[in-house]
Amino acid sequence: MPRLRRPPGPPNRLGLGNLRGMMQDQLQYMTEAAKYGPLVDLPILSERYVLVLDPDLIQQSLAQGYAVMQKDRFTHELGRVLGQGLVTSEGALWRTQRKQVARAFIPRRIRTYADSMVAAAHRSLDDWSDGSVIPIHEAMAELTLDIVGRTLFDADVRGTAKEVGDALKVISDFYSDVLESPIKPPPWWPSPRMFRFRKAVRNVDRIVSGIIDDRRQSAEDRGDLLSALLQAQDDEGAAMSDQQLRDECITLFLAGHETTSIALANTLYLLSKHPEIEARVHQEAANLLAGRRATSDDYDRLEYTGRVIKESMRLYPPVYTIGRQLLEDFELGGYTFAKGDTLLFVQWVTHRSAQCFSDPLRFDPNRWLPERAKSMHKYAYFPFGGGPRICIGNHFAMMEAVLVLATLLCDYRFELLPGQTLELQPAVTLRAAKDLQMRLVARGSKPARAA
Ligand code: HEM
Repeated sequence: MPRLRRPPGPPNRLGLGNLRGMMQDQLQYMTEAAKYGPLVDLPILSERYVLVLDPDLIQQSLAQGYAVMQKDRFTHELGRVLGQGLVTSEGALWRTQRKQVARAFIPRRIRTYADSMVAAAHRSLDDWSDGSVIPIHEAMAELTLDIVGRTLFDADVRGTAKEVGDALKVISDFYSDVLESPIKPPPWWPSPRMFRFRKAVRNVDRIVSGIIDDRRQSAEDRGDLLSALLQAQDDEGAAMSDQQLRDECITLFLAGHETTSIALANTLYLLSKHPEIEARVHQEAANLLAGRRATSDDYDRLEYTGRVIKESMRLYPPVYTIGRQLLEDFELGGYTFAKGDTLLFVQWVTHRSAQCFSDPLRFDPNRWLPERAKSMHKYAYFPFGGGPRICIGNHFAMMEAVLVLATLLCDYRFELLPGQTLELQPAVTLRAAKDLQMRLVARGSKPARAA
């Protein structure tokens, strides 16, 4: 019989201890809290949070218990911008949408996006030269925005995609600030930040609605995600409404670019610290591509590059925590948690746990060799979440990261300027607190490349 008591957790004097700890250094606080056990009680003000850190318990929740959970309160806050898109919707509406949006992410279709991904990497390369110093997070954000703009809306809307991207940056900065502040301003609050936020939301709405209107006029499949969404039907054969299309497009734009850009920038950072691993990635790409452009077929062949990306997202998961609020009482690990409690699954802690990974802080891409990886628990590593709400863009993101990394490393080595370390700012995603400056060192003369 499960006990009706809470699991242990850090001392929480006057109910403020956890708030203070989480505000001061959230990642460190959650890491230290792991000593209380696989389930950690972490109430903050009037909210009841529980850290779920053990892979078995994560699986029991995300994969088996999902029906009695919904996204946490903060994710629902994102609904102010994302409306009822796939990230924020729930229940029957989410199930219908997931089936519809999945059409745009079937493997055959994702592979057709490879050329756009590689072309975007080449546009970045064309802008750079030997010896240039670039802010790596900003550079990767531009690159992945270019990719998501083209794959979502097709290439001929580059200017518009940039405008949407700028507005989305204001929006995601706004949410990062909101997340960090214990006091949440109401939507009507007349601050300059709220004003910029509302303006950015209006801009995104206007642009995306315009693109959808234009596209409705022509029935052709332009090969992009929007075409797939326009053709999608629910079980009764009904197409998406304009409002739903708008919500899905903005959701994919927002969910699809910042995460991958963080993964790429952090990988380049790690490679700059591990020259022997960097040399292997370069060698794999240079031998395979030998001066030609990468294609979707190369994705499977760039095995070592794939392991490097996986390992980088273990140490620096772009989404570092997932939250679920309980819709009814839920039994887990010998405890019963109450309706309204929020379970937090913390990639940052589980991915770095010595119980799950040997020498957990070591950057070791070969731990992902099939014979070594097969003994790992499926939920010890979950950068894309798990269960039915697993990231719909996970294969897209992996192909993008691998092809882009291989393409960039063929031409340049990325050297970290001295005196910098990666400092993290946990917000909606695990961003860098301060961008890192990297110098580009060309690999001999730039190779002539067949188009
Ligand atoms: C390295 C890159 C990425 C990471 C680490 C990542 C991570 C995640 C995670 C952890 C979730 C689950 C959140 C939860 O359960 O609450 C998620 C959901 C989602 N992601 Fe990603 N993601 C990435 C790239 C992408 C891309 C490229 C797209 C689209 C182009 C995308 C679209 C989505 C959507 C629509 C959902 C919601 C799925 C649903 O609830 O059914 N993501 N992502």
